[in-house]
Amino acid sequence: AMRYSIFAGGKRIRPVLMMASYAIFSKNEEKILPFAAAIEMIHTYSLIHDDLPAMDNDDLRRGKPTNHKIFGEAKALLAGDALLTLAFETAANRSEIASGLTVRAIGELAKAAGYSGMVGGQFVDVDMEGKEKEIPILEYIHTHKTGELIRVAVFLGALLGNANNEKLKIINEYGKWLGITFQVVDDILDVVGDEKKMGKTLGKDAMQDKATYPAIYGLKKAQDMAKEYTDTALKLLAQLDENTEILENISKYLLSRVE
Ligand code: IPE
Ligand code: IPE
Ligand code: MG
Ligand code: MG
Ligand code: MG
Repeated sequence: AMRYSIFAGGKRIRPVLMMASYAIFSKNEEKILPFAAAIEMIHTYSLIHDDLPAMDNDDLRRGKPTNHKIFGEAKALLAGDALLTLAFETAANRSEIASGLTVRAIGELAKAAGYSGMVGGQFVDVDMEGKEKEIPILEYIHTHKTGELIRVAVFLGALLGNANNEKLKIINEYGKWLGITFQVVDDILDVVGDEKKMGKTLGKDAMQDKATYPAIYGLKKAQDMAKEYTDTALKLLAQLDENTEILENISKYLLSRVE
């Protein structure tokens, strides 16, 4: 059940971001593969649980039936639990990075994934279904359920690549803007995307009365905001002297999905 979802495909955007961010500051990005694999395991676990009947109740993910459709709910829950713990086992046991830095990175990853990060965002996401939507709550949901794992991906790349504190701050800020943009784009694609390309059932957010950017601002304004957030992210990258081309291109690619 674990293999079924992790090898179902997916864009691998979080590991790619982590390695691209590392490569800005250091050579041999394969050194951080255990952390890159770990973040993808955490992300995949979050998708398995997100799709469960008790959460978004989805039948399709990464172009295949969802985990619980194949293995049943109990095993889907457990596959998620096991991917989450395997993530930390992998980051701890396979790391070639100095032990102090490894411990710090694991702590940062755990925080971004947990109650004050992704899980917190997911909690409020399900809590707000069908309730009156307010902008600060919408922002909380998006920056946490999706933003935090994206932010920590680029942050950890730079941290493990030994970026100095000033540069880490800039990369971290970039990660926040990229993270929120990512969920705004996902919301827009839920309305106007191509189900085949996305590999998941679309139109679900409106059906479940989710707090989304298109629901609160309308489609056009949501698109403008994705552009505005991307500009802010790109301006942050421009503050670095290093070559940040890969991250710039990822930001532009992300926006191009809804332009
Ligand atoms: C989907 O993430 C869930 C969100 C956070 C919007 P991705 O769009 O990265 O999904 P995969 O990994 O490519 O399947
Ligand atoms: C998912 O948000 C965020 C996480 C899985 C943490 P969505 O519920 O919008 O993601 P999709 O649209 O099902 O991929
Ligand atoms: Mg969800
Ligand atoms: Mg969902
Ligand atoms: Mg979505």
